[in-house]
Order: sequence, then structure tokens, then C-alpha cells
Amino acid sequence: MPQRPKRLSLSILLVLGLPVFTLSAQESTIGRDVDRSPIALAVSSDGKRILVANQTAGSVSLIDTAQSKVIREQPTGDRPISVALSRDGRTGVVAHWFGSDLAVLDLTDDQLQIKARIEVGPEPRGVVLMPDGSTAFVSIGVANEVVRVDLATRKVTGRVAVGREPRGIALTPDQSKLVVGNSRGQSISVIDLTRFAVDRTLPMQADNLRQVAVSPDGKTAYVAAMNNRGRATTVNNIDLGWVLGQRIERVRIDGSEPVENLTLDPRGDAAGDAHGLAIGDGGKLLAVSNGGTHDIMLFRDGKSGLPWAEGVGRDLMPANLVQDKTRYRRIMVTGRPTELAFAPDGITLYVANYLANAVQVINTATGVITRTIDLGGPETPSLARQGEALFHDAFRSSNHWYSCNTCHSEGHTGGLDFDTLNDGWQDRSANHLRSRKKAPTLRRVAQTGPWTWHGWQDDLDDAMVESFTKSMQGNKPAPAEVKALVAYLGTLEFPKNPYREPDGSLTPAAKRGETLFRSKKANCASCHGGAELSDGKIHDVGLNEDGDVYKGHNPPSLRGVYDKDPYLHDGRAKTLRDALTGDHAPESLGGAPISAQELDDLIAYLKSL
Ligand code: HEC
Ligand code: HEC
Repeated sequence: MPQRPKRLSLSILLVLGLPVFTLSAQESTIGRDVDRSPIALAVSSDGKRILVANQTAGSVSLIDTAQSKVIREQPTGDRPISVALSRDGRTGVVAHWFGSDLAVLDLTDDQLQIKARIEVGPEPRGVVLMPDGSTAFVSIGVANEVVRVDLATRKVTGRVAVGREPRGIALTPDQSKLVVGNSRGQSISVIDLTRFAVDRTLPMQADNLRQVAVSPDGKTAYVAAMNNRGRATTVNNIDLGWVLGQRIERVRIDGSEPVENLTLDPRGDAAGDAHGLAIGDGGKLLAVSNGGTHDIMLFRDGKSGLPWAEGVGRDLMPANLVQDKTRYRRIMVTGRPTELAFAPDGITLYVANYLANAVQVINTATGVITRTIDLGGPETPSLARQGEALFHDAFRSSNHWYSCNTCHSEGHTGGLDFDTLNDGWQDRSANHLRSRKKAPTLRRVAQTGPWTWHGWQDDLDDAMVESFTKSMQGNKPAPAEVKALVAYLGTLEFPKNPYREPDGSLTPAAKRGETLFRSKKANCASCHGGAELSDGKIHDVGLNEDGDVYKGHNPPSLRGVYDKDPYLHDGRAKTLRDALTGDHAPESLGGAPISAQELDDLIAYLKSL
């Protein structure tokens, strides 16, 4: 990976705390040939500038909209994930997904300098800035909270607990409330800013919540999402919308009406990986980006309205909407469109396009891409980048309903279970729960064979073929495609562990837990041994289902286990504590009962892995 040494040198500088001018001197080190991968963007209130977060390059780019070009770029940290601007356009913030911090940028005279860097917590996701630039709010994915950051004192001044893995975050126009989408929590949290406390939690039958937007009247919030319907991945189920489907969820911020949703999947022509969402034309136009099907959908709430539905929603987009050009339009943009933002005119739409290394400009009145603003990137994609494109390509599944990324969110897990027919059978009972399996993380997956929960798969290349033909019901991949995909999987790593001491060592509790883990008493290491904390063998730990074709399970690697919830092959244990006091207690695995203190220590150790 060409960008690797550069990212390393940047992080060394950051660790050393070298002053700002040193960082500016780094600017030239981001070569033209480095993928930028824009993941988020913010438009200034006068519409003259766009600040873009470049995930792969670890930088932000500043675009001059009149010239449609990048006028400055600044390395900022490890995997930028979101950006925001103050109303006067002089202050910007960028949150770093792997860097766990928020960088504050001075944009006066377009200088784009880092003024401060504030630790906010593990895996920040979304950020908003008060219009006066005084305070930022960041959703923290692993800690399940929103933090308040005072930019003047550069301190975190408050934390509020929300649902599991908060991501998208938006401020109401009157600045009184925050709306937060809990990506793995099937809910939206509404935070009151005077009290800095949760006003209400609005549950919804939706998963993979992404960008959130609030209507100009401040009454309604929308979020791009997916709905896991739970049926096995047969072509028939897929086409009926019974495996999973894409949605826009709509909530009344005051909770006065039920949560509703709009189905984004036309029959036989589905949407893949709904990600970005923005509101234009004074609240009448909804724009959503589909990363997997490489398109933008525009919906206009005209005279006849839109077919909003409650609960799981409609299986398919109604045909009369699909055909109604006054209410619905679909624009192919290629690549992987992620976040969206409207210009102040409410008509010009900006699209961060990750795989295209560009920001695209769409005239929503005509549906035409008027400009493509190049952010920089290699002429020809690397092998891993080709694999990354395949991984995010819903066109590889039957009628392009979903991509690998839909189930293995960003190469990790969204905590959801699916019946991918991988294990040779399909539970046809009403809830078809018995043959469903949690989608495992793919971080370090090449090191953790054999694969699948039952561990019957001992060839990663074959596993790829199974994924394309069974999980996706798509065409068999060419050998070169398998190679590219495996190269991409090789780039997936765990973020820095947040449960260790700052120097990376174990806490005293984790040290005690480690001793116990390796002892005869708890007996964990007899199956979870070795560098990856799995012996690579198959064990019957009492979790076989009646219909299972393959018996026993392969101990999963415990690395990064703090973020792999829910636990066990069907996600039956919500927490590590549930697993170790329930179906995976030491006394049922050849160990002896442990005390409450020992359990705490053991969990502290597991979290540190
Ligand atoms: C519909 C959801 C879904 C899709 C789409 C999907 N997977 Fe999976 N994947 C799963 C589930 C569920 C499992 C566990 C299956 C089992 O254990 O029987 C799994 C298992 C795997 C494994 C084995 C991991 C391990 O540690 O054992 C790999 C590798 C994998 N998937 C890669 C991919 C790739 C690459 C794609 C795209 C070509 C893909 N998957 C598409 C749900 C999905
Ligand atoms: C006899 C072998 C064996 C022993 C002993 C054992 N495990 Fe496991 N472990 C497994 C298997 C197999 C699974 C997967 C089971 C399943 O999901 O159906 C598993 C799953 C887990 C999981 C869930 C991981 C995930 O990603 O969902 C955790 C956590 C875990 N083990 C921790 C422990 C701890 C802690 C101990 C010691 C108290 C222990 N295990 C002892 C074999 C074992």
C-alpha cells in the first residue's frame, strides 16, 4: 500500500506532539497516487467551500465550488470519518474513526491548519458543530455515547449514553436538539441540548443506520438504513425483499407519530447499501445515495405524497412510484457514493464518492452530473482497491440487492444474523432462527481459519466463491477477482484497543483475567489458545441445532471481541457477561465455577484483546 509509510510518519509526528507547521509541511507528502476515498463532506453556509474527509489518505480537502477544484489538502489523522463547519466557515472539525480524536481546523483565508486535537473516545463516527463554532458533538461508536466538546478549552465537557453504535448525527435548525442514529441499536436518540440528556429513544425495525438529516422546519428526521428481514438467501426470498431491503426511515422528533419508512427497492432493480441522505428544495426533496448500486435516488413529496409505511415497511417500492418521474428519479453515479450535502440553493447536490476519489455535483432539477471534482488518486487501482470495489459492489448479487459490505459492514460486523445457506441447510420454521448465523468480522480473517462458525471451510479462496454464489446468489468470481478480494481482506485491521492502558499494556484487572484465562480453572486457553486465540479445531460446546449438517463449532478468534456483540454463532448472548454466565460458562466447558470478581477480571481481559 503506497500510503502506508506516509500515514505512519504522520502518526509519529502526532504522537510527538510536534507543532502545527510540521503538519503543514507534511501536506506535500500525500502523493497524487494515493486513494483519497471521500466518506463525508460539509458545505459552507455561503456555498463557496466544501470540506471533505478522505478516509484512505487520512486527510481533508478544501474545495472552491466556483472553480470546482481542491485548493488545499491537509493530513489530519487516522481514517477521517466525518466533518463539520461553523456558520462563518472559519472553523472546521474532522473526527477520526481509528484515531479516536477530533481535530479542530482553522480555515481563515483557506489556510486549513490544525489548531487542536482532542481525544473523544473509541471509534468516533458523526460530528456536528454549533453554528457559532463554539461546541462540537461527536457520536462515539464503541462507547455508545455522544460527547460534547468545548472548542475554546479543547475539553470534553459532557457525555450522554445513547444506543448501540451511534453514527449519523444532526442538529435541529433551532439548535435545541441532536438527532442520533444508532447503527446497531435499531433506534434513534433525540438529545435535548439544554439539559444534554436524552429526550426520547425512538425504536425502529431498521439496521445499518447511516446519514441522518433534519427537515428545515425541525420537526422530522430522516435516516438512510437497511432492514434485515431474516429469511434465507434464496433467489426467491431475495427478490421478494425478504432477505433484506434498503429504507429511508422517518421519525417525528417529538415522538408524536409512529416511525415510518420508505422502501427503496423497485422489483427486480433493487437498491444496495443506502448510505447518504440529504434534504433539499426547502424540505420537499429527499436525496439518498446507494453505495452498493452506485446511484442516487431523489424523492419528491408531491401532491400524491410518498408511500410511507410503518414497521418493517413494504417489501418493494410500489410500481406507481417507480414510474412516476415527478416523485422519483434515479441517477447512476458509479463508484461508491457515501455522504450527501445540498448547496444553499437546495438544488445542487454534492456527493462524496469514495471509490471514485471525487466529489460529484448533481443538478437535481435535471438529474445531470454537472461536474466531477477530482480529489486525487492513482491512475490504476491497486489489487486491494479492486477487491475493495468488489466488496462494495451490489451488482455482484442477484438483482443487485446487496454487497458483502451490507452484512460485513466496512469489513467488520454489524452484529446481524443471516441464513446464507453456507452451512448446508435452511430452517423452514416460522422464525427460521435455527439456521441463522451472525455475520463474523472479516478483520484479520486470513489468519483465523478454518472459516464459518462450524469451521468446515478450510480454504479462504473457496469461502469467497461460496460468498458470491450462496450469500449473494450471484455469479462465480473469476480467480483474479478472488485474489483481489483476498488482498482487500488483508488490509482489514482492528483499531487500537480502547480498554488497555495508554502504553498498550494490560490493566491490573485484565492481568488477573489473563492468568485465569490460562488456568485449569477457567480452561479458556485450551480452545482459545495461540496468537489468534483459537486452536483452529472443532468442538462441541453444546450449541448444535437439531438440523445442523455440520456438528460442533470452531472457537472464534477473541481479538477485538469487545466490539463483536452479540455473541456466539446466533448472537444469543447480548454481552460477554451473558455468554460467560449462560451458554458459554466455564463450568460447562471443562472448567470450574468462577467467582463474581473472577468473572469481572475475565471480562476485563477479554475486552483488552
Ligand atoms: C447476507 C449477508 C452476507 C453477505 C451478503 C455476505 N456474507 Fe459473508 N458471511 C455471512 C454470514 C452469516 C457468515 C457466517 C456463515 C456461517 O458460519 O455459516 C459469513 C461468513 C463469511 C466468511 C467466513 C468468516 C469466518 O471468520 O469464518 C467470509 C470470509 C465471508 N463471509 C466473506 C464474505 C464476502 C467476501 C462476501 C461478498 C462476496 C460476503 N461474505 C457476503 C453473511 C454474509
Ligand atoms: C471446548 C472448547 C472451548 C472452551 C474450553 C472455551 N470456548 Fe469459548 N468458544 C468455543 C466455541 C466452539 C465457540 C463458538 C460457539 C458458538 O458460537 O456456537 C466459542 C465462543 C466464545 C465466545 C464468543 C465469541 C463471539 O465472537 O461470539 C467467547 C467470548 C468465548 N468463547 C470465550 C471463552 C472463554 C472466556 C472461555 C473460558 C471461560 C471459553 N471461551 C472456553 C470453544 C471453547
